[in-house]
Amino acid sequence: MKIVVTGSLGNISKPLTKELVQKGHAVTVISSKAEKRKEIEALGATAAIGSLEDADFLSATFTGSDAVYCMLPPFDFFNPKLDFMAEARKLANNYAKAIQSSGVKQVVHLSSVGAHVEKGNGAIDFHFMVEHILRELPSDVAITHIRPVAFQNNLYAFTDFVKGKGFLEGFIGKILTLQHYGLISLIKGNKKGIILSNYGAKDIIPWVSPKDIASAITEELVTPFVGRKVRYIASEELTCNEVAGILGTAVEKPYLKWVMTTDKQMLSALKGMGLPLNLAQSLVDMNASMHTAKLFEDYYKNKPTLGKVKMKDFAKEFATAYNQ
Ligand SMILES: NC(=O)c1ccc[n+]([C@@H]2O[C@H](COP(=O)([O-])OP(=O)(O)OC[C@H]3O[C@@H](n4cnc5c(N)ncnc54)[C@H](OP(=O)(O)O)[C@@H]3O)[C@@H](O)[C@H]2O)c1
Repeated sequence: MKIVVTGSLGNISKPLTKELVQKGHAVTVISSKAEKRKEIEALGATAAIGSLEDADFLSATFTGSDAVYCMLPPFDFFNPKLDFMAEARKLANNYAKAIQSSGVKQVVHLSSVGAHVEKGNGAIDFHFMVEHILRELPSDVAITHIRPVAFQNNLYAFTDFVKGKGFLEGFIGKILTLQHYGLISLIKGNKKGIILSNYGAKDIIPWVSPKDIASAITEELVTPFVGRKVRYIASEELTCNEVAGILGTAVEKPYLKWVMTTDKQMLSALKGMGLPLNLAQSLVDMNASMHTAKLFEDYYKNKPTLGKVKMKDFAKEFATAYNQ
């Protein structure tokens, strides 16, 4: 089959491209950067260099394909001008236009857990809207909305905290000082490393490996279907303390704990990192919705068979990155 993959060589799209190529499909990968061409071609795929912001480019790239994988890249929460709902609406409309004008009839759309409700999940509220824009397409366009749970990869953001450096570098790309958390005394007593967020500790979180997501998307892309469906993807359900234990063991810190901050502390930390108040609030709200498990209410009603890649597998990759 001729398949177009958006998302370049990102968390999901790289293993997805590898799997599709391995199964003998002709894959075109969209990247915004010309320098990715070589790496894409090395995987046995064709590179289409252009932007998801450009509906005509998307339409030309989709034309002649049997199936397309459509995703929205993460937004820059440090951009004070960011209106992520407007940005998501624009990209979704571009996809809708390109799907219609190219005539492609099989679409796999990367959505998210939480997309069953319009509001209340903060920074990921846009997924509900995007699903609904795509559902306006004519009924002969088959669409699977993939709703993964929390990516294991999100845990890389805590690497420096686990190192006990006293601040969390890399968390959405900036430095988070302990002062902003208002948790200095706690950390002073625990210089050995800690994970902190406004969800955590005993919260049970369903986690997923992007490799398991890629396998599910492969299945959906290559299996002809009609109509519309939603598919949740998860690899394992664990409390945050269990996650801390697994990652801690992998980096020889078996005592590692995941401590919860209040929403207020988290908001103040994010503001301290330079995030605009409204965007910081949307991230706090997203985490809070994980803490209350409201984010996962529809997932629990439609639980999938769990994937193969468990936290212990991810912990090996985490330890490699940690030790580099
Ligand atoms: N993290 C979670 O727990 C979670 C859970 C559920 C759903 N999700 C959703 O998963 C999605 C992210 O997926 P992912 O992690 O696989 O993505 P990713 O690894 O962040 O990759 C996205 C890639 O898209 C490319 N890109 C960015 N802007 C572009 C543009 N304007 N035009 C063309 N390409 C562009 C970039 O590659 P180039 O630089 O090569 O262009 C980027 O590496 C988001 O929609 C998020 O909401 C995340």
